[in-house]
Amino acid sequence: MCMEKIALTREKETLLITLYAKARESLLPESILKDRHAAAAVGRINYDFSRLRMRRDEMIGLALRAHTLDGWAREFIAAHPEATVLHLGCGLDTRVQRVDPPPGIDWYEVDYPEVIALRRSLYPARPGCTLVGSPVTDPEWLARIPAGRPTLVVAEGLFLYLAEDALLQLLRTVTAKFPSGEVVFDSYNRLGLTWVAHNRMIRSTGAVTRWSLRSPQALEGQVPGLRLRTERGGYESDDSRQRARYSWPAQAALWLMRRVRPLGGMTQLLRYHY
Ligand SMILES: C[S@@+](CC[C@H](N)C(=O)[O-])C[C@H]1O[C@@H](n2cnc3c(N)ncnc32)[C@H](O)[C@@H]1O
Repeated sequence: MCMEKIALTREKETLLITLYAKARESLLPESILKDRHAAAAVGRINYDFSRLRMRRDEMIGLALRAHTLDGWAREFIAAHPEATVLHLGCGLDTRVQRVDPPPGIDWYEVDYPEVIALRRSLYPARPGCTLVGSPVTDPEWLARIPAGRPTLVVAEGLFLYLAEDALLQLLRTVTAKFPSGEVVFDSYNRLGLTWVAHNRMIRSTGAVTRWSLRSPQALEGQVPGLRLRTERGGYESDDSRQRARYSWPAQAALWLMRRVRPLGGMTQLLRYHY
């Protein structure tokens, strides 16, 4: 088997953290994600994943986060079978395989050119799925996406790395260009961003975290047309069996986050419509 050598650093290297979490969670009993494509990709990447020293709770938390975003993407697609999906900062995430959209969906995977090149070498091409190698904040790639269809933007582990001005400009372009749609992503308040910046795995990549959100409502005032539909804890699950998979200290932390507002805002999953 041909192994892919990795020369990614900073924000780009963080994709290996989320990929590895999803791959490892898929091997755990009661896996929620069952992401065999991620597990196969990890097996083909020449990178010392053991240096991440990833904890089981982290695998479960990142898998549950991905699962919630998958669910929102599936709901959007079910309601809009002729639509566009923009998967921003896709990294090596296999959402398109997990969600398996029908032929009416035009799916775009967007990330830096080096990341897209790696994606191309690891995963087979898929009808209806277009790879776009560009910084997400460069307006050129978005200008080339056909307007006129409902459009879902899904971004996991991305927005925290963007400068606020560039992110707001991107979201304003989305809501102005497409007739309707949704934007779903993970967010962090100031406390949460500090917590992420000190996470040993993120620190080891040298990635710089930039964007925090005061409250989900604040974004409505900054991006015309954006309306909050759902907010929930970043690593939550509605399924008590899934929550019980966490260690007791992690369960205690989630319990506190549900009850104490600034703690709850540390990391959230947000779903807006426009
Ligand atoms: C934590 S990883 C998440 C990857 C993927 N969404 C997942 O959940 O596995 C962050 C990703 O955002 C991408 N990224 C960060 N800043 C970006 C930018 N300005 N333009 C395009 N991609 C960016 C990185 O290259 C990386 O793939």
